[in-house]
Amino acid sequence: MADVSTAIQLDREADGIAIITVNRPDKLNALNAETVRELDAALRTARADDAIRALIVTGAGAKAFVAGADIAELARMGPLEGVRISRAGQDTFRMLELMPKPVIGAINGFALGGGLELALACHIRLASSRAKFGLPEVRLGIIPGYGGTIRLPRLVGRGRALELMLTGDMIDAAEAYRIGLVNRIAEPDALLDMARDMARTMIANGPIAIALALEAVDRGMSTTIDDALIHESSLFGLLASTDDMREGMSAFLEKRKAGFTGR
Ligand code: COA
Repeated sequence: MADVSTAIQLDREADGIAIITVNRPDKLNALNAETVRELDAALRTARADDAIRALIVTGAGAKAFVAGADIAELARMGPLEGVRISRAGQDTFRMLELMPKPVIGAINGFALGGGLELALACHIRLASSRAKFGLPEVRLGIIPGYGGTIRLPRLVGRGRALELMLTGDMIDAAEAYRIGLVNRIAEPDALLDMARDMARTMIANGPIAIALALEAVDRGMSTTIDDALIHESSLFGLLASTDDMREGMSAFLEKRKAGFTGR
């Protein structure tokens, strides 16, 4: 079932997976303000819907995941508008990153500028062998404004992130895999099924454990080790209150498959 909207499509599949498609293929799925607003709304819907257990984010068409923020729109901005555009994208991408269910980026083509930043906000990135990655903002006289300067160095290290950011050069899927920017590479036709398989493996596990693992990692990346360890132990202890923990451990001891209820 697809929610009708122009630039962002939310398709719920039968088994708890939903696919968010950025759908402006004639502009290589570039993110204009309206597209970011629609993405924000789709993410709110996906977050609130317990029937959606995992999200896959991809781009429409064979050519692009997302070729960046819409340069035609950015070309007209003044300073205050620039801050506003950047904050709006950051907030939306942060909501994606904080999603309490797995978010897998299926990068089917160009992931440039804001498109790479969207991929970086996903929990996991899978790439088509035809995908291309880059942060070409400096070629336009700007810098990444949707979290790229923060998330890319954390993922691939400061040196590699700065090389991409300061040259503006593109890298291919093999190089993205080599530097740890993507987890796996698929043939273009197999990419979405690879993402679905990974999502299915994840959502067979206890949903509260999945949500709290995501929360622990997010907090752990943004605070001191001592605060993060205290937070981790609180979440670990909290899981001892769940039916899912009893079910998971009983199933192991009884040599059967666990049936998690999310309680
Ligand atoms: N913003 C707005 N429009 C964009 C866009 C973007 N980021 N990326 C692509 N488009 C548009 C093009 O203007 C073109 O529109 P038109 O047909 O109305 O002229 C259409 O998408 C197709 O792109 P085109 O450039 O013709 O395709 P290509 O195969 O020759 O080149 C790219 C592909 C990705 C190399 C090239 O489109 C590009 O460099 N895009 C900009 C990437 C970028 O700098 N992103 C960061 C923005 S902050």
